[in-house]
Amino acid sequence: TKKIVVLLSGNGSNLQNIIDKLHNTTLNNQHIEIVAVLSNKADAYGLQRAQNAGIKHKAIISKGISSREQYDALLSQEIDQYQPDLIVMAGFMRILSAQFIDKYPGKMLNIHPSLLPKYQGTNTHQRAIDAGDSEHGVSVHFVTEELDSGATVIQAKVPIFSEDSAEKLAERVLTQEHLIYPLAIQWFLSGRLSMVNSHALLDGLILPANGYA
Ligand code: GAR
Repeated sequence: TKKIVVLLSGNGSNLQNIIDKLHNTTLNNQHIEIVAVLSNKADAYGLQRAQNAGIKHKAIISKGISSREQYDALLSQEIDQYQPDLIVMAGFMRILSAQFIDKYPGKMLNIHPSLLPKYQGTNTHQRAIDAGDSEHGVSVHFVTEELDSGATVIQAKVPIFSEDSAEKLAERVLTQEHLIYPLAIQWFLSGRLSMVNSHALLDGLILPANGYA
């Protein structure tokens, strides 16, 4: 079995998509299972989605926890019970300490709603509109110590139209998220994708640093 732990903070449409497309499926004779969904928000709808799918889930909230390191230690304790092959960040809106990330080298993927290296951090859709960009998109990348800067695995572009609101644009981007994240996860779990010397390697090919030249 290939085991996935999903980290999220909110709605969990990416989780739902991964449940629908990959959970309890078989890939190269290997069973894929989401073994746990963990949230830093107690009211994240993603937890309900996990519940509905019969997947173990837990909120680990930061209230009353004094330091980032202490929170991250609780989170990694929880994760380590499951010994996952892959940690999938799907709308997890908390910065993780280097100490945490170093525990799972080359085993964490994140999806970020911009064409990295553009627009690291939050509010990416509004920032792309405000900058007058004509295109925007989404990136799946390996998680490394530096925020939103690990090796890019796959990107998808969408146009920005003149009347776009951040909400409309976010929706257009989400549609692409739901196409590319399952691909990246399948590549990883089948051994086609790995992180080597901070680069993403797909079928032995080094991907350009930011996914496109
Ligand atoms: C997605 O757009 C994801 O790319 C973004 O949060 C949204 C979660 O949606 N992630 C980040 O901004 C990470 N910094 P979802 O809860 O419906 O999957």
